[in-house]
This record gives sequence, structure tokens and C-alpha cells, in this order.
Amino acid sequence: MMNEKIKVAVLGATGSVGQKFVELLTDHPWFELHEVAASERSAGKLYKDATNWIMSSRLNENYANLTVKECKANLESKIVFSGMDASVAGEIETEFANAGYFVISNARNHRYDRDVPLLIPEVNYDHLKLVKTQPYKGGIVTNPNCSTIGLVLALKPLYDAFGIRDVNVVTLQAVSGGGYPGISSMDILDNAIPFIGGEEAKMEKEPLKILGELVENQIDEAEVKLSAQCNRIAVIDGHLECVQVNLKNKASIGEVKKAFGEFKSEPQRLGLPSAPVSPIVYFEEDKYPQPKIHRNEGNGMTVSVGRLREDVHFDYKFVVLSHNTVRGAAGGTILVAELMKAQGYFDEVLT
Ligand SMILES: NC(=O)c1ccc[n+]([C@@H]2O[C@H](COP(=O)([O-])OP(=O)(O)OC[C@H]3O[C@@H](n4cnc5c(N)ncnc54)[C@H](OP(=O)(O)O)[C@@H]3O)[C@@H](O)[C@H]2O)c1
Repeated sequence: MMNEKIKVAVLGATGSVGQKFVELLTDHPWFELHEVAASERSAGKLYKDATNWIMSSRLNENYANLTVKECKANLESKIVFSGMDASVAGEIETEFANAGYFVISNARNHRYDRDVPLLIPEVNYDHLKLVKTQPYKGGIVTNPNCSTIGLVLALKPLYDAFGIRDVNVVTLQAVSGGGYPGISSMDILDNAIPFIGGEEAKMEKEPLKILGELVENQIDEAEVKLSAQCNRIAVIDGHLECVQVNLKNKASIGEVKKAFGEFKSEPQRLGLPSAPVSPIVYFEEDKYPQPKIHRNEGNGMTVSVGRLREDVHFDYKFVVLSHNTVRGAAGGTILVAELMKAQGYFDEVLT
């Protein structure tokens, strides 16, 4: 597809999501990790000294010896992935976009900007066109919240085939979703915590934008009633979600399973490097999916679904599992960048 790899930077490279970026960019066929950046506390140190590496793969030696830079818009790489803390991400990302960089972000700050796509490549790839309406020299694209991504990927085939009226979701979310070092072990071991600040509001709002329709450069939000309850549990990676849905049109269990199983979209058609062969895998076994066993399905990019059955209050209920720092953060963001590259969005800033 190309001879030279595209140089990229990771902002917030020392954090939980940042480390996952560094891990997933190792040997990426299109992108080369050229710079890492973080807060003033880390800037100037070697990456291996600034970060407490918690990934299961070994830190690539070249990356270990990169000097951490400040998150300032004077980097050499024109494509930047953001895993910065949301308390600072908004302004810094705007500075980068104004200076001609393309920012693909995991932070919540720009998710509801009218001209910023909130993108899951398999679900709303057409929303990417919004980038062309942005006032920036470069651009900003955002990745949804980690629990939203698993939910909406599983809802999309049902939304397209049968329509969805109502959704009720109860989550069991991994500790890595709270960043590093995250919640204290004394608080989470032998425990479950029925509150994750801001999470329920995000889960009730983000799907409406993502499932919305792009009409004349604006998104008409989807009309689905959503209710979410979010819990933190003592799992390292992998968010489990118990979902109930009311469909607009009647569908048999067989038809719903078929919709899950056959779902494929633009990333699969384009053969993007991080696109899983199947975005959704359905398990027939009653005890599946489970975080420890299935979070790495499709290299962490496939959403696992199981336990589909009829419900007394809703039409159907089922369980969804997705890897929160891969599909739900760094991996999902890299897939967005691959889609942008394949569709020529980077051509201007790279020439
Ligand atoms: N964890 C997940 O599953 C997940 C999923 C989706 C989205 N997100 C979002 O992704 C972002 C990162 O999450 P995380 O879990 O990786 O958090 P984290 O582990 O706390 O990492 C935060 C990162 O932000 C950097 N940072 C802090 N203050 C900064 C400043 N003033 N200037 C520049 N960089 C600064 C930190 O650098 P230092 O090490 O130098 O402090 C660190 O690299 C957040 O916005 C989060 O909401 C997380």
C-alpha cells in the first residue's frame, strides 16, 4: 500500500491507554511510533524510566529509549494519538488540531462537538466526513467511552436489521478502565463498586450520536431510550455488559443470532490491518463470554456476545464482552487512523 511508514506520536504515552498504544503500534504495518509525550513530570526522561510498564509483552527497546516530550504542538509526527487525562486533553488537542495535526483521541472532551466524529469504524464510518467541516488546519476525531464501544458494536446489527426502541444495560467493568494505578487494591479486592463517575451519563448519551444519521453535515441523533447502571469489579481487563433490548420490528432468536454472526462492515471490506475478521462473535455456551477467557478474541478487537434469550420486560436480553483498553481505547483508535489513512484523510498533512 505504501513504501514508507507514517510517523505517529502518542500523547499520554505513560498511562494505561498510552502503554497499550505503544504495545499495539509495535510492528504496525502502516504506522511507526516516532514520539512519545506526557506531562511535565515525565518529559525529559527516557520512556522506560517515565513509565511503569504493565503490558504483558516486553517493551520494544527502541521505544524504551525514546525521550518523553511535552504534549506541545511542536512534534515532528503529524498524526497523534491521544491518551491524555481528560482534565488536560481538551485544550491540548485543540492546539494540535489548530497547528495542523490530526488528533485521534480517547479523551471525552471533544466527543460532543458538533463537527467532531465520535467514531466506531464498523458502525458510523460515514461520520468521518464531518472532519472536513472543522475549522482546524488539521482535525480531531474521537473514540467513544470504553463501555459504549462494546455496547454499540453489539447493537448495530440489530439496529440496522430490526430497529431498536429501548436499551437497558448493567455493566461489570474492569479496573484498567480507571487508568493507572487506578483504584486501590484494598477498595476493589473482594468487592464490587456500584458507581463509576460520569460513566452512566456517557453510556446513555454517546450511542445516540454514534447511531445517528449524518444529514447535511449534521448528525441527527438516533431515537433510542437508553438506561445504564455501571459497576467496577475486580477484573484487570474486559468489560462485561448485561443488555436488554426492545426491538422496533419482530425478530426470532435465530434472526437475532444471524444478525450478530453475519455482521461485517467497512474496516473488513477495506482489509484494515487492525480490523478483526468478525467484529462480533456469538457463543452458544451458557457460561460464555467471560473476561479472562474471551477478552483477547480477534486480538482484543472482537466483541463477544452470548446468552441471548427472551425477556419478560424486554424482547431480548444478552451479554456482551469487550476489551476495554484494546477495542475500547487504543486498538479502536488505531483502527480509526487506519480508516482515515485508507480514505485519504492524511494525504494533505503528510505532503
Ligand atoms: N483506561 C481505559 O480503558 C480508557 C478507555 C477509553 C478512554 N479512556 C480515556 O483515555 C484517557 C487516558 O486514560 P488512562 O486510563 O490511560 O489514564 P492514565 O493511566 O491516568 O494516564 C493518563 C496520561 O495522561 C498524562 N497526563 C496527565 N497530566 C498531563 C498533562 N498535564 N499534560 C500532558 N499529559 C498529561 C499522564 O502522563 P504522566 O504519566 O506524565 O502523568 C498519562 O500519560 C482518559 O481521558 C480516559 O478517560 C480510558
